[in-house]
Amino acid sequence: EKAGYDHFMLKEIYEQPKAYRDTMLGRINTESLTVSLPELKLTKEKIAAIRKVHIVACGTAYHAGLVGKTVIETSARIPVEVEVASEYRYRSPLITPETLVIVVSQSGETADTLAALREAKKHGAHVLAITNVVGSSVAREADSVMLTLAGPEIAVASTKAYSSQLIAFFLLGVYLAETLSTQEQAWTKSIVAAMLSLPEQVESILENTDALRTYAESIAEHEHLFFIGRGVDYAVAQEGSLKLKEISYIHSEAYAAGELKHGTLALIEDGIPVIALATQNALLEKTVSNIKEVKARGGEIFGISDVNEVKALGKAVDEVFGIPATNALLTPALSVVPLQIISYYASLARGNDVDKPRNLAKSVTVE
Ligand code: BG6
Repeated sequence: EKAGYDHFMLKEIYEQPKAYRDTMLGRINTESLTVSLPELKLTKEKIAAIRKVHIVACGTAYHAGLVGKTVIETSARIPVEVEVASEYRYRSPLITPETLVIVVSQSGETADTLAALREAKKHGAHVLAITNVVGSSVAREADSVMLTLAGPEIAVASTKAYSSQLIAFFLLGVYLAETLSTQEQAWTKSIVAAMLSLPEQVESILENTDALRTYAESIAEHEHLFFIGRGVDYAVAQEGSLKLKEISYIHSEAYAAGELKHGTLALIEDGIPVIALATQNALLEKTVSNIKEVKARGGEIFGISDVNEVKALGKAVDEVFGIPATNALLTPALSVVPLQIISYYASLARGNDVDKPRNLAKSVTVE
């Protein structure tokens, strides 16, 4: 059932191109480069009445929500808040009937997320569930359901479910922009065209993972590691850090690159590994200056950037991995892949049970 792979996690990482294709299929018109999402069950008038969006989720799904915030705010110009479900539920969030509440859950059974969904419904919000499981509790109770079509995910650490949630947010962002005319048609079409290339681009990353494996083995002896990035790179840094902690048990922290100097820089000493995401070309110069701050304190930096920027970044870092070029908003669907691979091989090098990490469960049904 592992189809020749040593672990479910590795199998699921390699299933991402298919998960992307399946999640886009039938929702993207490949000729007009437009998106249709009848499952939202929202009329144009209802969409136009939305004043704010709350994205609520736990764990990895929360990290997908962080990317979702940037996607929706950029495309639809509606303010978005993202919160972990266990906090949202108990702080009397300001929910009105003009709030669209998006709950994100791979399993659709997470108790905290389900409780948040019920709270939102109680206040009259429209609740949209992004879930991977048809007929799950979250799917049954939400007003509308957008399915990620990643297929069953067995490994406790989420990979293809997370990245398919990103695809769902891209589809949603484009659809809202089309409906509200908040962006030019040329803009939405260029996003859709770039989305259609993502599956092949992931395949090209997965074709040769030797450098990632070697790097993962080199960090396996370390106890602490940092991830840095700006914008959506920061969101992906948080997911990369969680993945590493979950399965390798190496302590790591994700920092907004520009925030490092406001405290955490104190922890950077000789030989500390730092993974720097620098896929946002518009922010590259700023990120490079943060990388230099780390380098000056002895940090060993592994950079991840768009292939076109590898040269520019290469001078500032110790090693660099290039991902295929895409639209700046879509980079998370590519940049997360090397981070998944690094976590996998670091866990393996430490002799851990990759698919069943200690103390964690795939689905948590207690609050
Ligand atoms: C955790 C799992 O307990 O629940 C994580 O260990 C997961 O991997 C989180 O991200 C949320 O799960 P779900 O099913 O609601 O997306």
